[in-house]
Amino acid sequence: MTSRKWHDCPIMNVTDQGSGTPLVWVHGFPLSSRIWERQLEITGVRHIVPDLPGFGRSEPAAIESIDDYARAVLRLLDERGIERALFAGLSMGGYICFAIAQMAMERMQGLILLDTKEKADTDEARKGRYDTIEKVGQKGVGVVVAAMLPKMLTPAAPPDLVEAVREIMSSASEEGVVAALRAMATRADASPLLHSMHFPVLVVVGDQDPITPPADAERMAAALPDAKLVVVAGAAHLSNMEKAEEVNRAVREFVKRF
Ligand code: MLT
Repeated sequence: MTSRKWHDCPIMNVTDQGSGTPLVWVHGFPLSSRIWERQLEITGVRHIVPDLPGFGRSEPAAIESIDDYARAVLRLLDERGIERALFAGLSMGGYICFAIAQMAMERMQGLILLDTKEKADTDEARKGRYDTIEKVGQKGVGVVVAAMLPKMLTPAAPPDLVEAVREIMSSASEEGVVAALRAMATRADASPLLHSMHFPVLVVVGDQDPITPPADAERMAAALPDAKLVVVAGAAHLSNMEKAEEVNRAVREFVKRF
């Protein structure tokens, strides 16, 4: 694997479309900006949708921590002259949004947390990440795809959606996957941050999400000063893909506040 320096970080591939309040969509692991395709139907906002380094159409970069992703997203906004924005993060994207809030809360007008949690990894989860890194080194990204695909969607999901998610996950680079696993394993616990997030937050979770179940969403919503919780029936981890209409309805209501 090549050794990279942070200043080598390439510009992330980004979709920038629509007009209105900027809304930055941060995807999860091991996914890409393509998970947000249906959310781009939402009008009245400016969608900023990056592929994180090593995922989708972005080259891998020197990512060592969740903070590095957060800095990359903030740099993207700086480059576009965007001072404040709404942020939306799914799962690892949510971890990145917490890191953004930690380093630049004043730039966050509002936040959408989808199928994510504020807590750091347990020791067991962390060990699992390092085991996976080893397996990815031996067998490639397919190991992660095989382990995670069944948790992304419910058994009732249509086969074409399952194939689309498989394809998105399979397009992740090995370097990107390893960097993200390491970054997630060492992320901070964002629990102490929640009570200081004095802006509107929409918390969305699939009722059948096995990775970040509804209990995680309920706990975050209870700790946040101004949160609305939406539990999406018939969805697993990728609630925004499996039940796009329901999630978009909640997001449209939410963005009316800005
Ligand atoms: C994700 O969807 O981003 C991952 O499942 C998050 C995680 O593994 O903690």
